[in-house]
Amino acid sequence: MPVPISRRTFLATSALAAGAYGTGLGLSAGRRALAATPAELTAYSSEALLTGSAPTRGTMSYRLSEEASGVPPVLRMRKGEEFAARLINRLDEPTTVHWHGLRIANAMDGVPEMTQPYVYPGDSFEYRFVPPDAGTFWYHPHCNTLTQMGHGLTGVIVVENPDDPVFDAEVVLNMRDWRLGSDGQFIAPFKPRDAARGGTYGTVKTANWLEGPVYDVPAGGLVRLRLAATDVTRIYTIGLEGAAATVIAIDGNPVVAPFPLGRYDIGPGQRLDLVVRVSDSEGTEATLGNFRGTTPWTIARLRATGTSLKRDLRDVKALPANPVAEADLSSAVTIPLEFTATAEHAAKPNLCGTLGYTFWAINKVAWSGDTPDPVAPLADLKLGKSYILQVKNRTPHAHPVHLHGLSFRILRSNKREMTGQLTDTILLSPDEVAELAFVADNPGDWMLHCHIIEHQKTGMSSFVRVS
Ligand code: C2O
Ligand code: CU
Repeated sequence: MPVPISRRTFLATSALAAGAYGTGLGLSAGRRALAATPAELTAYSSEALLTGSAPTRGTMSYRLSEEASGVPPVLRMRKGEEFAARLINRLDEPTTVHWHGLRIANAMDGVPEMTQPYVYPGDSFEYRFVPPDAGTFWYHPHCNTLTQMGHGLTGVIVVENPDDPVFDAEVVLNMRDWRLGSDGQFIAPFKPRDAARGGTYGTVKTANWLEGPVYDVPAGGLVRLRLAATDVTRIYTIGLEGAAATVIAIDGNPVVAPFPLGRYDIGPGQRLDLVVRVSDSEGTEATLGNFRGTTPWTIARLRATGTSLKRDLRDVKALPANPVAEADLSSAVTIPLEFTATAEHAAKPNLCGTLGYTFWAINKVAWSGDTPDPVAPLADLKLGKSYILQVKNRTPHAHPVHLHGLSFRILRSNKREMTGQLTDTILLSPDEVAELAFVADNPGDWMLHCHIIEHQKTGMSSFVRVS
């Protein structure tokens, strides 16, 4: 039996790691000293104040200590150092944890039946792995996901790199919606009509479970802003007003050359790391907004405090690259993948929930992704060989397509100029065709699915096998 760390130790280290500008609890310092001792990550159901009305009943979250509440903690890990957490299921349904974007062993990937058993209520499962890449990632269940994620089970992971540049502050934003009625209580998680289109939107929009929170940051400072779009449906067009910002990483992976943030789209599952140059004058606010659609709205605000540190955004350098193998394009095998709508039919029930419909397919096969009886893999990949996924969106809707366990480079697209960004999720726009290159260097069955959860759960889901 692993010995849980004492509450005292935990509180001391978490306060340290969370820091003045952190959000939620951190795991860094204490965790490193106690590498073999897993943190206790409990999934539980509770209530939370998300709106001006009554507390919302039936929220779900993760916590690292009994007294924690609200938004799931930011889990801090270190590149190349072991992380261990025991998932304790205090929900009344099975669950698992998937570590989105981390290239770790298949047995730790958190897909029920495919990579591990269901974790039943009252049971636990120990996750233990070494994150190979630094950056902003996130964690969520891979079972009954529309409900479990929709009710709150989406948390942010920060993998630190000792070689990262030091910034004056860091703010982590877990961006997501809630489907609540005017009484603040959950309403139906989706509308079939919308699931067959762009997906069903939430009614309450939050960052770190707060509507338009304000964070104090040092005036004239350079602040690292880590954004994670953990919503089940919403695609954001990120913009910042009242301060200049530079994009330094996309989906956890450093950009080749930092570029100014104008407007940048991220879909469910994606992350964006920005460096913000805070205003020199105390009290001035910069507004992070969503500019998609006709009415922009505020995600969060940064307020300048203190006397100006007088930093210069031009001093921001590219982050050190992650150690992802380069595909050999001369020998790479191309695999065509078509994302389409499909004839509507009822889905088979399973332990991880079904929405009861099938609307979508990959290469003409519709699979909800959480069944004990998976379809055949889309492709059998040879360990160590290079591949190019030729992904074609044959629908009038955008799809954030995510591949587990492997990072790919976006080589080209028929819709936009590509810079060869490394990622785990590509936001395919309507009718977009793109080529994604990678080395199949991580053995196992890896899911590939749309991260609009209604699309995933109504058929836009499959997997590749690397052996
Ligand atoms: Cu965020 Cu199947 O993953
Ligand atoms: Cu989709």
